[in-house]
Amino acid sequence: MPDNKEKYAQLQEAIAKHKGERGAVMPVLQEAMNIFGYVPQDVQEMIADGLGTTLSEVYGVSTFYSQFSLEPKGEHVIGVCLGTACYVKGSQKVLDKLSEELKIEVGRTTKDGKFTLNATRCLGACGLAPVMMIGDEVYGRLTPDQVPEILAKY
Ligand code: FES
Repeated sequence: MPDNKEKYAQLQEAIAKHKGERGAVMPVLQEAMNIFGYVPQDVQEMIADGLGTTLSEVYGVSTFYSQFSLEPKGEHVIGVCLGTACYVKGSQKVLDKLSEELKIEVGRTTKDGKFTLNATRCLGACGLAPVMMIGDEVYGRLTPDQVPEILAKY
């Protein structure tokens, strides 16, 4: 696909730009996210080759930071806040319930491509804790019991 060719060319440019910098993997992965929307295996390989580092290093960085995803994003991206205010009000339980309902781990996308489940830092709505976002929609004062009903809307 010509479209993809262009993306790979952009990636090569990003690699060339950061090559030789300390910690170049991070900014190049960020650029890869902007270009592709996720970081597939062949892109990780290109980054490793291009920067003269190992695939395991690139993979390590991309799995450590939640802003990088290794698969295409789902139609609806869910972000559950694990910031302090939300955490103390039980957001982990909400996250666990979502994970159970959607049958996916955090950071993954459902098989039908409908939902991606992420944990996030403070969303700036601590007064509504615990908070999650689905796309641009904010849900506050959540309990795990509300999860199925909310998911059913999508
Ligand atoms: S800690 Fe969750 S919105 Fe601030």
